[in-house]
Amino acid sequence: MDLNIRGRKALMTGASRGLGKACAMALAQEGVDLTILARTRDVLEATCAEIRAATGVDVTPVVGDITTAKGRADALAACPEPDILLNNADGPVPGDFRDWTRDDWMAALDAMMLSPIEMMRLTVDGMMARGFGRIVNIVSRSVKIPQLELGLSNGARSGLVGFVGGLARQTVARNVTINNLLPGIFDSDAQRRHIEGMLEPGGKTFDQIWRERAAANPAKRYGNPAELGAYCAFLCSTHAGFVTGQNILVDGGSYPGTF
Ligand SMILES: NC(=O)c1ccc[n+]([C@@H]2O[C@H](COP(=O)([O-])OP(=O)(O)OC[C@H]3O[C@@H](n4cnc5c(N)ncnc54)[C@H](OP(=O)(O)O)[C@@H]3O)[C@@H](O)[C@H]2O)c1
Repeated sequence: MDLNIRGRKALMTGASRGLGKACAMALAQEGVDLTILARTRDVLEATCAEIRAATGVDVTPVVGDITTAKGRADALAACPEPDILLNNADGPVPGDFRDWTRDDWMAALDAMMLSPIEMMRLTVDGMMARGFGRIVNIVSRSVKIPQLELGLSNGARSGLVGFVGGLARQTVARNVTINNLLPGIFDSDAQRRHIEGMLEPGGKTFDQIWRERAAANPAKRYGNPAELGAYCAFLCSTHAGFVTGQNILVDGGSYPGTF
């Protein structure tokens, strides 16, 4: 299927590794030029070189932190009129809510709710004026299946999807869609960090927990980031113009409900 987005421009935060990188590669394979923001220069530049070599599209790296005003300004300076926006950044570490301070909550809100909303504020009116826009937020299954050890994610990400539900209905008439991808377990750095955060002295090993999580999934495996990237590319296509405000699980069937 031709996704009809060749020559479009995508601004992608948190796309140097893992799920964000897979989305970047999938869009690049469709001929979309990319601007990618992440904090670690060498990893970012290596990813940009890899995508450029594999696909031939223009890929511009921006070193920065999307939770800062400077990071957002630098991203927009490099790609002032994006057709496609991917919002992605770090998730939280597991823990007990009794230990979290207001600063911990503000950092979680900045990464998982307020920065994506600010990026939408900075880009959505231009997209509407130009008559095309695709915004995808990488969120988490935690908004549908609260993860007991991830209270910061359960809380902050729910704020984002609640906000998007309203905004998406105000932009779609101008061909600007906004959708949230809700990953389940994927084989990535964030998954490994998550499991490391669950280790307890004398408890299960990393390998035991890794295997148990795969076994508990109906697919009996972790997702491959490319599987989420392909879904992202479809949502960014011209064919997906009637899909908006949706929270789309990509989780191997781990969410147990019918709806
Ligand atoms: N993987 C899973 O199984 C899974 C499941 C549910 C939800 N999620 C969520 O999905 C998101 C992506 O997960 P992942 O597995 O792809 O993570 P990952 O492999 O750790 O990649 C995260 C990417 O975001 C960048 N990044 C992080 N914080 C940033 C910031 N403040 N500003 C700019 N760039 C930033 C990282 O680069 P730098 O570190 O260099 O900045 C990297 O490119 C996370 O929010 C995660 O919690 C993942």
